Amino acid sequence: MLKVGIAGIGTMGTTHLDAYGKIKGAKVVAVADLFEDRREGRTLVAGNVKGQSQGGTDFASFRKYAEAMEMIADPDIDIIDICLPTPLHARYATAALKAGKHVLTEKPFALNAREAQTLAKAAAKSDKLLMCAMCMRFWPAWAWLKQAIDKQTYGRVLAAHFRRVTSHPGRSFYLDGDACGGAILDLHIHDTDFVQHCFGKPKAVFSRGYSRPTNAIDHVLTHYLYDDVPLVTAEGGWAMTPGFGFQMQFTVNFERATAVFDNGAPEPLQLVRNGKSTPVKVKPGMGYQHEIAYFVDCVRTGRRPEVVDPAGAARSVAIVEAEVRSIRSGRPEKV
Ligand SMILES: NC(=O)c1ccc[n+]([C@@H]2O[C@H](COP(=O)([O-])OP(=O)(O)OC[C@H]3O[C@@H](n4cnc5c(N)ncnc54)[C@H](O)[C@@H]3O)[C@@H](O)[C@H]2O)c1
Repeated sequence: MLKVGIAGIGTMGTTHLDAYGKIKGAKVVAVADLFEDRREGRTLVAGNVKGQSQGGTDFASFRKYAEAMEMIADPDIDIIDICLPTPLHARYATAALKAGKHVLTEKPFALNAREAQTLAKAAAKSDKLLMCAMCMRFWPAWAWLKQAIDKQTYGRVLAAHFRRVTSHPGRSFYLDGDACGGAILDLHIHDTDFVQHCFGKPKAVFSRGYSRPTNAIDHVLTHYLYDDVPLVTAEGGWAMTPGFGFQMQFTVNFERATAVFDNGAPEPLQLVRNGKSTPVKVKPGMGYQHEIAYFVDCVRTGRRPEVVDPAGAARSVAIVEAEVRSIRSGRPEKV
């Protein structure tokens, strides 16, 4: 049984705790959080997605640390799961690798591309495994879409649009654009990452965006430029008015069908072809649980995580930086 220590028991720490309760081969033995209430399991921080961060785990048996670096030094832990604020990801992941732990770290991989590339290089040299939790690659409807694209089940993709919009979380490091990177790095990166996962690195990106409420880019519209088709765009932001809720959607137009996902619809994934729309059944659960089960299996079997490799996770941060440059310059920018 692999022993896990979770660093940061906020929204994502609790979400990951929920997920470990559902998977085999690993168990949480330690938690770290600056706040006593959180490391004792007395406070629950809600997330965007329905069903996420439920709580209810019994914390009694966990070893508890106030500072995550102290937990990283604990010799009786195999996997450090980093759910800390974004500016800490690279430093804590590097320290955990150096301490001989396998590391799962929340997205974004790092606060900027330079740090992300350094971390990817450290992972390449380490005999321990490092994976960035790019959960959309494991989200069942997205995994279905990726497979349909790779296998050309409905022909080539002609056009794809992704959308992820909500209101600002209004708390914690999310209030400071320098710490969270704005919605473009924190939220929209899910779609940027999925775009490169499906279609490869774009030649350039052309973006428009604005800041509200942080000093970074909080709402963005990007055109990812490829040679001819597919036409690929994404909208992401947390500038919606409070009470708006959370929308994640895609519309992907293949040569012989159109796939539509809308998290607010009773049957979220639909395939339209031959004049009718049919719901598509995908495996149950959220991406968090599937990504963690995958990483635990990689550690157990000693294979490097291919679904999200460190270089790919770093590339997503670099593409987001090109999007920010494009917003500033008003022109397409190479990645
Ligand atoms: N994959 C996703 O869908 C998704 C969703 C939300 C957030 N995230 C990412 O997850 C990360 C965490 O976000 P969150 O919303 O859970 O944040 P949060 O503020 O709710 O939780 C972070 C926790 O880390 C603790 N912490 C900070 N520094 C610490 C230290 N040195 N040692 C121990 N504990 C420390 C804080 O006290 C806090 O409880 C962010 O990078 C964010 O971008 C990912």
